[in-house]
Amino acid sequence: MEERKIPQHVAIILDGNGRWAKKRMMPRTYGHVQGSKNVESICKAAYDMGISYLTVYAFSTENWKRPKSEVDTIMQLLNSYLKDCLETSKKNNMQVRVIGDKTGLPEEMQKKIAELEEKSAGNTGLHFQVALNYGGRDEIVRAVKKLAEKVKKEELQPDEITEEMLSGELDTKGIPDPDLMIRTSGELRLSNYLIWQLAYTEFYFTDVLWPDFDAKELEKAVDYYNGRDRRFGGI
Ligand code: IPE
Ligand code: IPE
Ligand code: MG
Repeated sequence: MEERKIPQHVAIILDGNGRWAKKRMMPRTYGHVQGSKNVESICKAAYDMGISYLTVYAFSTENWKRPKSEVDTIMQLLNSYLKDCLETSKKNNMQVRVIGDKTGLPEEMQKKIAELEEKSAGNTGLHFQVALNYGGRDEIVRAVKKLAEKVKKEELQPDEITEEMLSGELDTKGIPDPDLMIRTSGELRLSNYLIWQLAYTEFYFTDVLWPDFDAKELEKAVDYYNGRDRRFGGI
């Protein structure tokens, strides 16, 4: 039997919190509460499986357009998540990085993020990235602006610009591109997620809603990545 390949970097679009709550006749915010709890379990499951990098999409640049009450609840949840994450990162030796435009986040949250990134920077376990106020196009525009500044200062000529240079200005600088991208809840689109980094990534879509996506579901995604199908008992 061939050896099972474990993807080094898994990127997840955690979708379906609202539908999960609706199915239970509960408010959408209840789905976000359960969804945020699930993030910690999946971090643990991913690391136990041997995955080194995990990147989750928690809030997009477009998500501000949702009703204010929902945005407020999500921000509150994210705040308390970041606070707890300080403890979990210590306990699990996890290195945390936030990708996205941090300047567009509430100041209080920016402070928490800076503290979390600083205190977890030396950890050698799972590399965990949270995409917050993140949009792939926005990330590329911000990177292009940095390169344009260098051109303006005559540190760089336009025709010297390479793919590596642009990669090096992205929020994911230094992180290998994802090997596997998972989107839960049946939507077959990227919603502006890591559009540069996913150029050669394998995609796995599942109808399972994010709060129900557990370690077993993650195993299934990794099986798919391996080109296997165990549903019929095969190996
Ligand atoms: C994903 O769940 C979480 C966020 C985008 C913050 P949704 O809130 O998008 O849930 P659905 O897609 O409406 O079910
Ligand atoms: C994508 O999910 C963003 C996050 C998971 C944070 P959405 O539910 O916001 O995406 P669309 O609007 O359905 O494309
Ligand atoms: Mg959604």
